[in-house]
Amino acid sequence: MLCVMSQETWEPPLSQPVLPGEARTDYERYLNSEELLSLQKGPEEWVHRDELLFQVVHQSSELWLKLAWNDTGAAAELVGGDDLGGALRLLRRASMCMRFITGQLDMLEQMSPWEYQEIRKVLGHGSGFDSPGVKALRPAMARLGEAFHAARERSGLSLLDVYVHGRDNEQLYQLAEAMMELDEWMQTWRIRHYRVVARVIGEHVIGTQGTPVEILGRLIHRVEYQELWDVRNELTAKSQAEG
Ligand code: HEM
Repeated sequence: MLCVMSQETWEPPLSQPVLPGEARTDYERYLNSEELLSLQKGPEEWVHRDELLFQVVHQSSELWLKLAWNDTGAAAELVGGDDLGGALRLLRRASMCMRFITGQLDMLEQMSPWEYQEIRKVLGHGSGFDSPGVKALRPAMARLGEAFHAARERSGLSLLDVYVHGRDNEQLYQLAEAMMELDEWMQTWRIRHYRVVARVIGEHVIGTQGTPVEILGRLIHRVEYQELWDVRNELTAKSQAEG
């Protein structure tokens, strides 16, 4: 074994783990990589080898969603304390999480729709409606919406004012747009998910929890901040009225 010896003190070699745990390296100890990598079925359990692809896409989506709802929830608290700059920093990251999980839906289209039917048989009643990440993100976004409107009211502004006088209320305007960004990514994910589902299992079938895929087609119109979308209509009407 190689040891680093100084004249006065002896230090263990940097390649030796120092964190608590049993794994061989600190990399593995810190990341719990052994546990993480054992969370997918192994070849002996697969009904089809694409179960690995399917589990990796879903599990990594849940991890990005976990970061998204944590950052969105923390952003709501910062807005409550009038730290809009701090909230903006976190919301940029939450939107990136949604962008990443939208991008990785592409991977599911690499599965053969016929072979996927084998995997579908072992999913039980598993359904995305039970996604813990999506279930936690929606209330976090609702808390953020409430905090934003409370901050706007403390400034004595209507939502229309935030946009018409956006230059004079830079941070509130930026916050409204960061919320739009997150909402639009959430909706973009839904639209993309719907197309992926249609491509993999078809548009006129029933999901594993009994939901017709057509319902997903209706859900793509869902947004969390309807008032932020509606204010655009008011801006257009105002501009037209003013000539
Ligand atoms: C081949 C891949 C996929 C298929 C065939 C599929 C299929 C479906 C179906 C049929 C539904 C309707 C509910 C039901 O199951 O009865 C659904 C809903 C849902 N799925 Fe997927 N899904 C896939 C991938 C994913 C991935 C990667 C995620 C990531 C988290 C996800 C998250 C959701 C969510 C959150 C819903 C609830 C609807 C919504 O909030 O818009 N799905 N999915």
